[in-house]
Amino acid sequence: MALCSFECLLASFLVLVVVCAKAGLGTTVGCIERERQALLRFKHGLVDDYGILSSWDTRDCCQWRGVRCSNQSGHIIMLHLSAPPTEYVFEYKSLRGEISPSLLDPIPPFLASLTKIQHLNLSYANFAGRLPSQLGNLSNLLSLDLSYNYGLHSGNLECLSHLTSLRHLDLNSVDLSKAIHWSQAINKLPSLIHLKLGSRGLPPLTTPSLSPVNSSAPLAFLDLSYNDFDLTSSVYPWLFNFTTTLVHLDLSSNVDLNGSIPDAFGNMISLADLDISGNQLQGSIPDIFGNMASLERLDLSKNKLEGEIPKSLSNLCRLQELNLRINNLSGPLPQVLDLLACANDTLEILYLSYNQLRGSIPDLIGFSSLRLLDLGDNRLNGTLPTSIGHLTKLQWLVIGSNSLQGNISEAHFLHLSQLYYLDLSSNSLTFNMSCEWVPPFYWLRTQKKLRYLHMSTSNISDVIPHWFWNLTSLIYFFNISNNQITGTLPNLSSKFDQPLYIDMSSNYLEGSISELPSVLGLLDLSNNKFSGSIALLCTIANTYLVYLDLSNNSLSGELPNCWPQWKSLIVLNLENNQFSGNIPKSFGSLQSIQTLHLRNNNFIGELPSSLKKCKSLSFIDLAKNRLSGKIPPWIGGNLPNLMVLNLRSNKFSGSICSELCQLKKIQILDLSSNNLSGTIPRCLSNFTAMTKKGSLTITYNFSLHNQLGDFEDQSYVDRELVKWKGREFEYKNTLGLVKSIDLSSNKLTGEIPKEVTDLLELVSLNFSRNSLIGSIPTTIGQLKSLDVLDLSQNQLIGEIPASLSEIDRLSTLDLSNNNLSGKIPQGTQLQSFNTSSYEGNPTLCGPPLLKKCPGDKAEGTPKAYSYEDDIQQNGNDMWFYVSIALGFIVGFWGVCGTLLLNNSWRYAYFQFLNKIKDWLYVTTTINMARLWRTLQS
Ligand SMILES: *[C@@H]1O[C@H](CO)[C@@H](O)[C@H](O)[C@H]1NC(C)=O
Ligand SMILES: *[C@@H]1O[C@H](CO)[C@@H](O)[C@H](O)[C@H]1NC(C)=O
Ligand SMILES: *[C@@H]1O[C@H](CO)[C@@H](O)[C@H](O)[C@H]1NC(C)=O
Ligand SMILES: *[C@@H]1O[C@H](CO)[C@@H](O)[C@H](O)[C@H]1NC(C)=O
Ligand SMILES: *[C@@H]1O[C@H](CO)[C@@H](O)[C@H](O)[C@H]1NC(C)=O
Ligand SMILES: *[C@@H]1O[C@H](CO)[C@@H](O)[C@H](O)[C@H]1NC(C)=O
Repeated sequence: MALCSFECLLASFLVLVVVCAKAGLGTTVGCIERERQALLRFKHGLVDDYGILSSWDTRDCCQWRGVRCSNQSGHIIMLHLSAPPTEYVFEYKSLRGEISPSLLDPIPPFLASLTKIQHLNLSYANFAGRLPSQLGNLSNLLSLDLSYNYGLHSGNLECLSHLTSLRHLDLNSVDLSKAIHWSQAINKLPSLIHLKLGSRGLPPLTTPSLSPVNSSAPLAFLDLSYNDFDLTSSVYPWLFNFTTTLVHLDLSSNVDLNGSIPDAFGNMISLADLDISGNQLQGSIPDIFGNMASLERLDLSKNKLEGEIPKSLSNLCRLQELNLRINNLSGPLPQVLDLLACANDTLEILYLSYNQLRGSIPDLIGFSSLRLLDLGDNRLNGTLPTSIGHLTKLQWLVIGSNSLQGNISEAHFLHLSQLYYLDLSSNSLTFNMSCEWVPPFYWLRTQKKLRYLHMSTSNISDVIPHWFWNLTSLIYFFNISNNQITGTLPNLSSKFDQPLYIDMSSNYLEGSISELPSVLGLLDLSNNKFSGSIALLCTIANTYLVYLDLSNNSLSGELPNCWPQWKSLIVLNLENNQFSGNIPKSFGSLQSIQTLHLRNNNFIGELPSSLKKCKSLSFIDLAKNRLSGKIPPWIGGNLPNLMVLNLRSNKFSGSICSELCQLKKIQILDLSSNNLSGTIPRCLSNFTAMTKKGSLTITYNFSLHNQLGDFEDQSYVDRELVKWKGREFEYKNTLGLVKSIDLSSNKLTGEIPKEVTDLLELVSLNFSRNSLIGSIPTTIGQLKSLDVLDLSQNQLIGEIPASLSEIDRLSTLDLSNNNLSGKIPQGTQLQSFNTSSYEGNPTLCGPPLLKKCPGDKAEGTPKAYSYEDDIQQNGNDMWFYVSIALGFIVGFWGVCGTLLLNNSWRYAYFQFLNKIKDWLYVTTTINMARLWRTLQS
């Protein structure tokens, strides 16, 4: 992209001014034609993607956007070409381009003419290059705004020091990293009131001893945010020189600003707005903050502050906004609110979330101006006082993730007609009002502005009342998951205007899936009792759909054919339903799809070859269907990102083609319980992901957005059932560590390729129930991470390799029903396995088998040591044993080992992980994104 250099823009500007000066003899007020022509030529040289200069075509150029003329002379005295971002725009709308070179020539002779210019605003204009020293000649300049031209840089700011009238200087995001003497240059500006030097690596003041600061500037507004530098050692002395004049000070997001907050802040008695958020500040909030009696807004969020909030804050009687979220502050909440009592009439915004505050939520009735109350993620207990229902101005209420109890009734929301953000999640609140009483959603009836509704895990057990759907039109985030909500869904197409996120998963909703909104980013209806066909799903007609989860319902029929309309779909989960028919060919148009779960349905036929176009696929689970045909070679050749391929329990036949070996990222390969024949390809040593440690989870990150520009960042952590020891276990938070090959229950022949022992991180290897011959590779002991080895029910011969005993982690071994012979390697944990691990090998001998080997001395019958018994007897020891033995992998098998004990523990544990962690992943990212946006605005 061609950026205009700043010089050339300024040059053209000079030309304009010069033109004005030459033509400016007339006394008529209005546009001077020669200036108009010059502006038109200037416009011609620019790329105006967003029509910013679209008004530049009428006769009177003084009426054009960004142009202001003098009342007396008609000359242009102000040019304002900034294009600041609007609320919903992700990309700044701005001009760019090159100035026509012919305009460049006559700059120097006319420099003097520039002294008339008072206001120059070229912010957000996408200009690049070095800040020109001619700027120093614009000596009448009152305001200069060059902010958000990311391509601009400056050497020295010395040229600015001639601008003695300058009151307002904004260089935010101009690269000032070379301007090492910036403070001296600024000190020479005697009129400066408003200074912004944020967002771009301002260098630290390395020579504080150089000239003492004797600026007489009445600096009132100072923004040094986002500079990454260590202010502690350098900028504080300079800063504190303006102690008595500063009204607004922004030092936020300087990640290296650490240490404790200096007491000197307490002398800033004029300060109305102080922002030191997003730094690394430690220690407690200084007592002396109580001196800043003019403070209206105080933001200390996102630091490492601890201790209790100082009593002196009770002097801050003008506070309108207090933001202390994301610190380590402690103490009782009622005490904090007592301190703020003197600001009871003014306080509008109070953020205290993500701290360690305890106690209960006191009566807030005095804080009648509160618009935002954020108390989430603390340690609050007790109940929510009904007096909260009298805070008539409340728009935003977050009390999620505390230990609050008790009933939530309509009284809590009695007068909250302005509420649009509500988070009550993850407490022990109950909404169970009896049926003849007002339904739990009653209070919502009066809510007219609701945009965000998050009521997951809230113990709601009721039918959704019909009127409820009349409130949803403005909602873009809708989460009522994990309750006990019953009933059916109405036609949703007209209920939401621009929904982004609809999660009604884990309830008892039933009936068929109704017509859906035509625009949608995420739809999760999993874990309900929906039935019938999903043909109406096709009413989602937008390309924004990223996430679709209908798993664990009783949906049936063939899949519809509307997949081509969802080009952004990343997560598709239809597992555990009764869908039938073929997998549609049109799945091939899901060009973004990364994870495809169709497990446990009644799909038939072959895999459509169009799937090879889905090159981003990392995860395919088609287990437990009736799919047939060969395993297509293109899976290996065309899906290079595949990490999980599960085709278990289908009717695939033919041999395992060597093309599959190209799956370098594969971690779980399960082709068991099919009709596969032929030999196991030797090239499986090419599965390089099975030779290395990987990450803990398999996670996909994505952003949801709709046409209104609402957006949420999300991540989805994939999960998979892994069959192990005859049972299926679900893995999610450690799924990335599971490296497993399962080819069991097929008709495979030939020998076990010794190459399989190169897959050093394998955790589970199952070749059982085939017709394999030959011996167990002697290098099997290399698989030091192996926990499960099942080679049973084949025709293997020879001795058990001694190296097998070197695998300390092995907890499940099955070599039964083969033709193995000789002595089980002695004196190792191989003796600790149950005899059933070795049975059915007629000539195998030695402990734990009772059969003695030829030549062994007779001795007392060794008691077969049972690992199982140990597990059953002492869970804690077992866990300990497993943790020690398994080193880093403890999170995985440690949990699993424990969970072996008892099905209900396992169930509870995974419930916990799945529900709570999901919620955490999703909610924290959402809340952060949202709050961040609020702070920005
Ligand atoms: C020019 O005219 C505008 C609007 O009529 C007025 O607000 C402004 O004060 C005038 N400026 C001068 C310098 O007369
Ligand atoms: C800055 O500090 C110096 C030395 O302490 C002092 O003489 C000067 O008056 C201060 N300037 C301002 C604007 O406070
Ligand atoms: C605010 O607090 C003052 C005393 O601190 C009290 O007199 C006043 O009534 C309170 N305002 C409200 C609305 O409660
Ligand atoms: C809140 O927790 C504290 C400390 O655990 C306890 O002393 C207090 O009784 C609890 N209050 C309520 C209302 O449960
Ligand atoms: C919901 O809105 C529709 C259409 O605006 C209206 O006819 C209906 O009466 C409303 N229902 C309730 C319960 O408010
Ligand atoms: C296995 O990897 C090697 C080296 O990368 C490569 O030359 C070979 O073709 C691969 N084999 C198969 C069957 O993909």
